[in-house]
Order: sequence, then structure tokens, then C-alpha cells
Amino acid sequence: MQSLRRYSLQLTAIWLLMGIAFFATTAHADGRGSGLKIGFSQVGTESDWRTAFTENILQEAQERGIQLLFSDAENNQENQITALRSFIDQHVDAIILAPVIETGWDQILRQVQAAGIPVVIIDRNVTADESLYLTRVSSDFVREGRLAAAWLAQATAGVCKIVELEGTVGSSAARDRQIGFNEVIALFPGMQIIVSQPGDFMRANGKKVMEGILKTEDPNEICAIWSHNDDMALGAIQAIKEAGLRPGKDILIVSVDAIPDIFKAMLDGDTNATVELSTKMGAPAFDAIVDHLEGKEVPKWIRITGGIFFPETAAQEYEKRKRQSDSQ
Ligand code: AHR
Repeated sequence: MQSLRRYSLQLTAIWLLMGIAFFATTAHADGRGSGLKIGFSQVGTESDWRTAFTENILQEAQERGIQLLFSDAENNQENQITALRSFIDQHVDAIILAPVIETGWDQILRQVQAAGIPVVIIDRNVTADESLYLTRVSSDFVREGRLAAAWLAQATAGVCKIVELEGTVGSSAARDRQIGFNEVIALFPGMQIIVSQPGDFMRANGKKVMEGILKTEDPNEICAIWSHNDDMALGAIQAIKEAGLRPGKDILIVSVDAIPDIFKAMLDGDTNATVELSTKMGAPAFDAIVDHLEGKEVPKWIRITGGIFFPETAAQEYEKRKRQSDSQ
């Protein structure tokens, strides 16, 4: 009884500490940046979230009259380095870099800096020195992991054997979400990760990895899946159904992104919670570049936040997000 009370106090503290705040990042195009030539190196097309984020940047650039040189790295850092070199050769006014992985950027960022081109790091982080880029526009991935774990601790009264589906190895999104999640479950002796496997943020991989796990682990022992993104969770849902189990009931599921398809899965009772990662990072990124070019101070981290969503609001969220993605 006493330990239950302790858990519930811990949970209350976690929720309060994290301050479930919602900051809407509203696009206000009004032509800021019109005429600029900006290079954008994007990770790839690994997830629905990524595709929607690309759409946000392209649309924002178009509305502002910015000439955007777009490069899809197909999940490969080498391609990103080549793209950055080509942006230097094309004398862009600024570069937006969404890095696949965290390390290995110092040299190319030094070359970009020597060419006098400001860089905005967007979404995932880099380990390079902060002086090598103007700012970073991103969510706090550690907080996302904490939110997911706090919900799971509450839903299971702090007793749960967890399967973790990891995002791309070496990416800050995967690493930091893991750190945040593990930090919270460490407060609950009854919560353990029993298997952790990477699925590169891809739906097909989520399914394949989960199929394997259901063969090596006793499914009755698995209380929940913690998936670093919605796409891998959706793949795992398929695998669980094909194994004759009920996702969202026999095995709880929490993931990150808040894409339309995950709300559809919630409506079908197949998943339980998703932490939102906003795709609306184009406006703050372009505004930071324009501010800098106008000689204004730009903070080193422009933080984008989102909430955590449950089946209760899945119908509205699905409609809203579907409409938004159709209009992009
Ligand atoms: O870097 C953010 C992650 O990358 C998203 O959560 C995932 O869907 C994407 O591929």
C-alpha cells in the first residue's frame, strides 16, 4: 500500500516536472525570406512523420517566396555531406540540415562556416560544437521519452516488462528518447526493458523485428511495447495481430510522432498512447535565418513541444491531422 502511494507520488511529480505544455508553432509566412536561396538536406522518407515534415518545409518556403534546394539523403550521412558541399558551390544564403546521425559533422560544418553560410540544425541533433551552427530547431527528445514512460508507469502501476523498438542507431532522436524513458522507469523497480531492437524508424522493420521477438520471447510475458516512433508501432501491431494476440489490450503500446495512422489504430483499439512530435518546424527555421541575416540575436535552441494523446481524443485528432496532411 505504502509503495503504491510512493509510486503515485512519483508519477505526480514526473507529470508536474515535465509540465505538459502545448506551444503551437504557428506559421506566419508574410514573405519573410523572400528571394533567399536556402539548401535543405533532409534525412529521407523513412516514416510518415518525415514525409509530413518535408511537406511543411516545402510549403513554408513556397509561401515565403524562398528558393529551396532540396536534397533527400536516403538515410545516408555521406549523401548529406555531398549535398552540403554542393550547397556551398551554389552559394546558398543558408543551409538547413536535418542530420541522420549525431556524429561526424565537424569537418563539413567548418567548411560551411568558412564559406560564411549560416546553418540551422533541424529535428535531430549533432555532437559538433555549437559555434559551428546558428541554432537548432527541434523537440526535446528526452522529454518525449519521459512522457511515454510516465504514461506507461501510470497505466501499469509501475509493473511492466517492456519491448523497446529503437529508432535509427546513432540518431539523437533514438538515443535521447531512450535516455528519457529509461530515466523514468528506473524509478519503478517493477518496470524493465526485456528486449531492445532497432527498426530504423520504419514500419516494415517494426513488423519484422516484432515477429522475431514474438518467437524468442514468451508473448504472455510482454506487458508493453515502447516504440521510438509510430511507424514501427504500426508494423508491430500487424505482427501482434498475425500472432493471434490483441495489440492495445494483451500488449500495451506507446510511441512517438502523432501521425494520422496512429490515431486510426487508436480508434480500432490497437494502440494506447502517442507523444506528439510537431512537423511545423519550417516557420521557426526560416524566421531564425531571416533574423540572423537582419542582425538580430538568435537563441541556440528553438524548442518545439507537443503533448501526449490517448484514444479519448483519437477521432478528433485523426480528422484534424488527416485534413492538415491532405491540404499540404
Ligand atoms: O527524428 C525524428 C524521428 O525521425 C521521428 O520520430 C521518426 O518518425 C522519424 O523518422
